[in-house]
Amino acid sequence: MTYSKNTTKGPEVQAFEIGEHEITLETFEHFEQILYKTNTPDEAYAKYGTKVLTDILQKSSPNLTETVISNKNKLDTECGLIVIKETGIDKVSKELAQLGSIAVSSLLGSPTPTTPRSPVIAWPITYKPESRSSHKTFSETNSEASFHTDSQYLDHPEKYFGLFCIKPDKFGDGISQVVDGNSIIHNLSKSHGKSVIDELRKKYPFKLPSIFTKDDQELEPEVIWAPILSNNQIRYRNDTLMGALALESITVPDTQLQALQSFEEVLQKSDVINYSLEAGDVMFVNNHRMLHGRTAFQDVNRLLYRVRMD
Ligand SMILES: [Fe+2]
Repeated sequence: MTYSKNTTKGPEVQAFEIGEHEITLETFEHFEQILYKTNTPDEAYAKYGTKVLTDILQKSSPNLTETVISNKNKLDTECGLIVIKETGIDKVSKELAQLGSIAVSSLLGSPTPTTPRSPVIAWPITYKPESRSSHKTFSETNSEASFHTDSQYLDHPEKYFGLFCIKPDKFGDGISQVVDGNSIIHNLSKSHGKSVIDELRKKYPFKLPSIFTKDDQELEPEVIWAPILSNNQIRYRNDTLMGALALESITVPDTQLQALQSFEEVLQKSDVINYSLEAGDVMFVNNHRMLHGRTAFQDVNRLLYRVRMD
């Protein structure tokens, strides 16, 4: 585990880190039978759904199931994230790991496909240097990912996401980073007053990544308008906000722009939880409350599966 100099140590990690809980061999055998009858993990999920997958988990991996369900309150109202150690998700085939990730995530909500054009549910986060895609996402690059909430450009961003670590970076890089949105709001109102919070409750423009737009060449940029802060929900990503604000057709009052700058300044000074996921670890994050990022890495074999849930 690695900490940056401004990270609170000790008790904070104890609060969200949960001991090892394996997905049993029996569970993987059931999933193997399901995969045998379908072509891909996504097809298996489409055919059998959350009920069948979670029933299998409940019967054949009761400890893991009980742990995830009983720690949901930590995600919702306490620390905003949990890490379950040594699930064994790293010890099986790619397809079984993906179906296992979808099944475990289903204990918390309904998994959603990544994008309309890539409707993969357990999305591989890995560095693809050869990818010629004109619209690489954080999940395909090896650069630092600045703090953001996922799906901030959707009308209804998913409440949770899970990261299933198959292969960590062999050099110890690509560290997962999380900042508590509640402490940003607290520090922001303390340092800048309630008026800044009121501004952030007004609508801001977020530019849709081209993988979500009708025209993937970005000839026609699409924008959604939504508040950065709303009831029990935070949405933020600096580059999609700046991308929208750079468009000629977009205007936002100066008071809102100043509030956005204050938000970014407070975010930069916030305490960061840095966590090096190990093979088999699963991190679940409350995407309505926590901002997350990642440090840069070089290892092309680093692989996580990400599942978002409503
Ligand atoms: Fe993300």
